[in-house]
Amino acid sequence: MKSRLSLTVNGETHDLLVPVHKTLLEVVREDLGLTGTKHGCELGECGTCTVLVDGEPVLSCLALPADLGGREIVTVEGLADGSRLHPLQQAFAELGAAQCGYCTPGILLTAKALLAEHPSPTRQEVKEALAGNLCRCTGYTKILDAVELAALRMGQGGWTSPTVGRGGAPTANQMGQGGWTSPTVGRGGAPTANQMGQGGWTSPTVGRGGAPTANQGTGA
Ligand code: FES
Ligand code: FES
Repeated sequence: MKSRLSLTVNGETHDLLVPVHKTLLEVVREDLGLTGTKHGCELGECGTCTVLVDGEPVLSCLALPADLGGREIVTVEGLADGSRLHPLQQAFAELGAAQCGYCTPGILLTAKALLAEHPSPTRQEVKEALAGNLCRCTGYTKILDAVELAALRMGQGGWTSPTVGRGGAPTANQMGQGGWTSPTVGRGGAPTANQMGQGGWTSPTVGRGGAPTANQGTGA
């Protein structure tokens, strides 16, 4: 049995005819083609399927689209502003906070909701907000650092991410054009957002002939 419904996702309204048993996760991925939202456990335990509904994180594997008519749904595809990454995406890219990236869409959206409510969260508040989002790759430290860096930048009025060239991550030059400077990357790990806020930091050096490598960018 199918039902007709209207869903607003990333600012666009879609009229759909979908089987009543389909979850929001399935509809977003299969009917709307927004595959940034990831299948994980489908049991409400991993957080990788997180989307925002009216600004609140929701596990799309447990949500039924029929309940969400008239609500504003945001997936990871709705985070960037055209070719300009959301500050969270920019910070994750710079600090190496995504490795395989499977958990990243859910974490970005959960963090977005956190920063909307708490623009300057403590480390503990970031940890608690992300407690339902599991990551098997990063060890979490860089994720926490990246959320703190994004919070710092978002609190500095007028900061915007550099525009991203077609088809890829920002180049070294693009990263230099937004009025911001990156921190010095110390031996043994990326600096925390707090370290970055302490003044005296400058951009990392860029290897000959191109953008910094992941190692150069993160100190890992
Ligand atoms: S896939 Fe939804 S919580 Fe794991
Ligand atoms: S980056 Fe691989 S699961 Fe988090």
